[in-house]
Amino acid sequence: MPDDVLVPKLHPLLATRWSPTTFDPGFELDADQTELLVEAARWAPSAGNSQPWAFIVSRRGDDTHRRLVRHLAASSSRWAPSASVLVANLAHRYVDGTDWEYSEFALYDLGQAVAHMTIQAQALGLFARQFRAFDRSALAHEFGVPPHWEVTTMSAFGRVPSSPDSATPQPLEAARMRRPIGDLLWTGP
Ligand SMILES: Cc1cc2nc3c(=O)[nH]c(=O)nc-3n(C[C@H](O)[C@H](O)[C@H](O)COP(=O)(O)O)c2cc1C
Repeated sequence: MPDDVLVPKLHPLLATRWSPTTFDPGFELDADQTELLVEAARWAPSAGNSQPWAFIVSRRGDDTHRRLVRHLAASSSRWAPSASVLVANLAHRYVDGTDWEYSEFALYDLGQAVAHMTIQAQALGLFARQFRAFDRSALAHEFGVPPHWEVTTMSAFGRVPSSPDSATPQPLEAARMRRPIGDLLWTGP
């Protein structure tokens, strides 16, 4: 069976999700919707309910946004600033003042919280692109992130432009390629 036959059977929030690199620079997310994204992350599961995550949340035009965009890489600075909301995703890696892991699942749990955030965004009619193309240590310094926390990734949220005179952005063919499902099923010896 061709791989994408099952895609229409996925929940629409999953089947229609993709990560744009063009956001509508005129679309604004209000404070309540922005808080809802964080709320979605808050309710994600985590190992031992350790909740090893924190977020630097900005809306385009606010001061936090101005401070975040300073640290984007050349590649992400072409598209991320026009997203409505930019979020830096932080993991609680170590116990304060030690090199003991706070939770060996901290990165796993942060990823899951961010996934919840992106699907909540999708439910609000938004798109999200997670990315690592920024200066993590400069951003940590800018926001006084202590060494036991790690600035891990960022997420951009917004709408894709839909004006009649500009083509609606489409997902890149290559980005939509997936390994076949048989590859994902570990059967052992
Ligand atoms: C941890 C992580 C880091 C990523 N880093 C970048 C990045 O630096 N720049 C970028 O354009 N996209 C980045 N992406 C987006 C991926 O390239 C994208 O999710 C992937 O190609 C699959 O496409 P899709 O999300 O549309 O299904 C990143 C995604 C994740 C989860």
